Amino acid sequence: MKILAISGSLRKGSFNTQLLKTVAEFVDQDTSIEVFDLADVPLYNGDLDGDTKPAPVQALLEAIASADGLLIATPEYNYSVPGVLKNAIDWASRPAFKSVICGKPTGVMSSSMSTIGGARAQVHLRDVLLATLTPVYLAPDFALASAHTAFDENGRLVDEGTRNFLQKYMTGYTQWVANQKG
Ligand SMILES: Cc1cc2nc3c(=O)[nH]c(=O)nc-3n(C[C@H](O)[C@H](O)[C@H](O)COP(=O)(O)O)c2cc1C
Repeated sequence: MKILAISGSLRKGSFNTQLLKTVAEFVDQDTSIEVFDLADVPLYNGDLDGDTKPAPVQALLEAIASADGLLIATPEYNYSVPGVLKNAIDWASRPAFKSVICGKPTGVMSSSMSTIGGARAQVHLRDVLLATLTPVYLAPDFALASAHTAFDENGRLVDEGTRNFLQKYMTGYTQWVANQKG
């Protein structure tokens, strides 16, 4: 199974990107996780959204199309989703209702330094994905709180309870993606 992972943060030291790198530890050997970097995706411009799109956009669309499932980890910016992530979803959402993201089984996670781990951004993200007809894995949901204390110097999640919960999330999510494939 191929999972495309997208982080809503461009920051080198991003906790959300680190979370997506970590999930490979929690899936079966026959599941691959590729993390897509949104850094080169330009701002959405309808004039550029023709048959020939900017190369980073084309790469994003092809990566989504060829994946069995998407896994998004988002920071919370001012109670919502960073523009970087919303922009990528906007590109991926066209043509409306026939896009590469339409029907693509998607997991949503968040991570923040706060004690609620970006939960408000997750709510907004789920709403955005509703508009694009993207089915979202419902439960359990995973929000990594106090992200600045969550990883050791090797990028490993340290807390056993958090690790167990992430394992539960990834097992449920990958089974759900497999079921969607039929
Ligand atoms: C513009 C901006 C707005 C932010 N707003 C929130 C917020 O509303 N809630 C929150 O928990 N953290 C907020 N933060 C803190 C981020 O959650 C924190 O920097 C987080 O580490 C970013 O994710 P990253 O580590 O993946 O880059 C904000 C950060 C920025 C830069």
